[in-house]
Amino acid sequence: MLRVRVVSVVLVLVALSTAAFVLWAQTPAPSGSTVKPPAPKKSTPPSAKTSAAATSQKAKIELGRKLVMVSACNDCHTPGTLFGSPDFERELSGSEVGWQGPWGTTYARNLTPDLDTGLGYYKEQEIVDALKSGRRLDGSPMLPPMPWQNLAAYSDNELHAIAAFILSVKAISHKVPDKLGPGQPPTGAFLVFPAPPSWDAPKSAPSDTTKK
Ligand code: HEC
Repeated sequence: MLRVRVVSVVLVLVALSTAAFVLWAQTPAPSGSTVKPPAPKKSTPPSAKTSAAATSQKAKIELGRKLVMVSACNDCHTPGTLFGSPDFERELSGSEVGWQGPWGTTYARNLTPDLDTGLGYYKEQEIVDALKSGRRLDGSPMLPPMPWQNLAAYSDNELHAIAAFILSVKAISHKVPDKLGPGQPPTGAFLVFPAPPSWDAPKSAPSDTTKK
């Protein structure tokens, strides 16, 4: 009898300790003591990288679109705008209205990425450089009324956005008339700047437009 009792006591003890072990194993460890597995290395799949770049390029072009709009580039470079009705189907494709003044007669050029008649041969950086320096790719000055001096207020990022937008518009083949020197008569429509009243008279010739 005693033997049976001892065995059953041992069995009860074994059962109790097993239960205790199971409970202990299930209790969550106090926070802080857990050793977290190393976070898996974030390796962005190439497709996600490309789409992130595409998104930022899209944002850049959108910024450029807005800056071009508020900087009035369309006024002169998009046909119809000077007459109250910009034709965005031919956005930035240049104008045939001449601007005549002491500098001769100039025409707002085709800025679309057309290779023969537009800026297709410019790289983004070259457009930025031209807008900053007032000199075209061939080194010739941008004559009035192209207001390149105003663009000095823009940051490099903003100028790059403008250039990226210009290069993103639809390429349109349209050759604007060549600029004419002072005294050369234009054939098409042109606006004449009157001799300036003394209040408006330039104090000095704009230095960048006098030398080539
Ligand atoms: C008041 C009219 C006017 C406005 C506004 C204007 N432009 Fe012009 N732009 C011209 C004229 C005119 C020329 C041609 C100048 C010349 O023949 O020397 C020109 C030339 C250019 C050229 C040189 C193109 C080439 O073939 O090398 C670029 C680039 C240009 N403009 C960009 C712009 C941008 C960008 C804006 C807006 C931020 C702008 N323009 C606003 C009139 C204007």
